[in-house]
Amino acid sequence: AQYETITVEKDAQGTKGVTLLTLNRPKALNALNSKVLEELIDAFADYQADDSQLCAVLTGSGDKAFAAGADIKEMSEKAAADFYLDDFFSPWTSEIVKKTRKPWIAAVNGFALGGGCELAMMADFIVASDNAKFGQPEIKLGVAPGMGGSQRLTRAIGKSKSMEMCLTGRMMSAEEAERSNLIVRVVPQADLIADVLKTAATIAGMPPMATIANKEMVNSAFEMMLDQGLIVERRIFQILTASEDKAEGMAAFIEKREGQWKGR
Ligand code: HXC
Repeated sequence: AQYETITVEKDAQGTKGVTLLTLNRPKALNALNSKVLEELIDAFADYQADDSQLCAVLTGSGDKAFAAGADIKEMSEKAAADFYLDDFFSPWTSEIVKKTRKPWIAAVNGFALGGGCELAMMADFIVASDNAKFGQPEIKLGVAPGMGGSQRLTRAIGKSKSMEMCLTGRMMSAEEAERSNLIVRVVPQADLIADVLKTAATIAGMPPMATIANKEMVNSAFEMMLDQGLIVERRIFQILTASEDKAEGMAAFIEKREGQWKGR
């Protein structure tokens, strides 16, 4: 598909099984408007449906921003009734987070503010460049996070720090974000995409069914009480033992060779 506000590269830079999605409105610091949402929903659905791809990476074009937030110019023209009646921001979670069962990584290459920080936190994990800045500055616009910031940031970095971030609207450096467990690691900006594609390639080389299962299990830890989460884990584990890839994976280990995955 041809998009206006994003680009999509399957088997990105020769990395088999890895789709690179790039927010492509650099002049607006990749601000997230309705067109970006519509196109990302389509691109994530296509990634999910394509059996040749098993990991996606989302980044921003240009060297300044991942995304500087929801598009303030677009939002400034809307009335409260528009936001409420359209259940504004709901599809980010219902269409992208919930429907993408395969893993995806946010490669944050600069500002990740407001909706940009919230979008990064929707990913399965975040890797950031050394110039990255995270923040929920919505309070300065007279509003508050609307795409999950108050919830996902708090779960990621804890109450004190999340509260301070939301109440002051201050930015957090990549180094502080790593120390606070918001991100996996910091890499020099010039190396970011190569670094994340390498991790994505490792994931894309795993047995597909087990990959989806591992993601589902870890996410259950955020949705459930421990007893329920442990049951989900055991049941999914038990189902996986019936897969062809379990037989292959264990045989490959015993025979000291690489597994050849069927995805079933
Ligand atoms: C629309 C944006 C934008 C945004 C930047 N731009 N952020 N346009 N929506 N969120 C545009 C600017 O208007 C400008 O366009 C161009 O991008 C470059 O931005 P500058 O401000 O000139 O760059 P700089 O001086 O380097 O400052 C960078 C910045 C600043 C610190 C990131 O742009 C900034 O503070 N942006 C807004 C961050 C923010 O508040 N995000 C949260 C949004 S609310 P022109 O045409 O002037 O050159 C949100 C959820 C809200 O995400 C939920 C409520 C319902």
